[in-house]
Amino acid sequence: MKVDRPQEDLSDPEGRAIRAFHDRFGGQPDVVVQAPGRVNLIGEHTDYNAGLVLPMAIDRRIVIAARATDDDQVKATSGGHDDLDLDLRGFVGRGRRPAASGWELYVGSAASGVSNHHPSFRQETSLGWEGVVASSIPTGASLSSSAALLVATDRLFAHIAGLQWEPVAAAKRAQRVENDIVGVKTGIMDQLASACGRAGHALSIDCADNSITYVPMPSNIAVIVLDTGTRRELTSSDYNLRGQECQAAAAACGVAVLRQLDDFSPDEIESVTARLDDTLQRRLRHVISENHRTRLMVAALEMGDTTRVGSLLSESHASLRDDFEVSSRALNAIVEAAESAPGIIGARMTGAGFGGCALALVHQQQVQEFMDTTVEAYELATNNLASVYECRAADGAGIRILNQL
Ligand code: GLA
Repeated sequence: MKVDRPQEDLSDPEGRAIRAFHDRFGGQPDVVVQAPGRVNLIGEHTDYNAGLVLPMAIDRRIVIAARATDDDQVKATSGGHDDLDLDLRGFVGRGRRPAASGWELYVGSAASGVSNHHPSFRQETSLGWEGVVASSIPTGASLSSSAALLVATDRLFAHIAGLQWEPVAAAKRAQRVENDIVGVKTGIMDQLASACGRAGHALSIDCADNSITYVPMPSNIAVIVLDTGTRRELTSSDYNLRGQECQAAAAACGVAVLRQLDDFSPDEIESVTARLDDTLQRRLRHVISENHRTRLMVAALEMGDTTRVGSLLSESHASLRDDFEVSSRALNAIVEAAESAPGIIGARMTGAGFGGCALALVHQQQVQEFMDTTVEAYELATNNLASVYECRAADGAGIRILNQL
């Protein structure tokens, strides 16, 4: 099966945004904000169960070059979407909210998030801007382009309104938009990674209290994105269903969230899970074992134990494939191709699943050989062309001010 999709221009988003700004609006933007995408090393489908995750922000980002206006209108262009001509008044409580979809819904909702949830927002402040959005994160590839767009627009609106920007609070606002307005019941991993990332580090996040410990990435391990070329539509996928299944499993075990089962002994777990049907038992087994693997992964990275890192990645993939059932044929095929390529430490699907990207950790000196072999083996197995590239742990959302407001 060959998948044809339109080529996105993912090169140099900051340069493209500034040049397009000049062509479209004339002169210079006041400000350039950016927010990165992420890969998740391990800890998948655990965040909405108050569990443990280990993502890193990557050197692929959404960039917005913008100039404030003195009204409530947003006029924006982006390579991949229709132009945006958005009246924010309905989003910030100054009128009726228009029926919005696509990226106008994201931008309008980010304005409503800042105006409703920032402690110092003053109702009379105008939030309008004109600008250009450019991205180096492929859309729908499980690299969190939507979280990055929300975090970047939150950063921009906070700047235009003259507000202090606090990354964890911004991540929570972005998650609320995704959950309440877009309707995808995500956890907080993607938004926290995009807002709080740190160059050279992964983020060990405990989603029970959103506390973050930064874990240095060993310099001899390369992180490779394995893009299957297939895409999923998160809203219409089984993602929300998995959340409901986890809640049902927790309720049947008499706990509020599955994370609480971490405090149970193996005997206690066996006795409470006996009440669950086979599907819920497998969902629960994934979440409990994945939290455990995430703890072990932090230790293995700190000790540079690549054998352990590799086996944890394959166990995680098998659990997502068999117990949580969120993998896909393409994801399984690319993980298998990667696992027999030279230099491999370990590979697994990353993000929500159902298509999109896997990741591989690879010995740094063998990156090129690894990538060439994996692309070839995947094409042979699926007749699909993979896009495979190295990414580096990057800083979270940032702002560059070119012209003080
Ligand atoms: C998506 C969601 C995250 C997380 C992952 C699966 O990326 O946005 O909150 O649940 O799926 O780990």
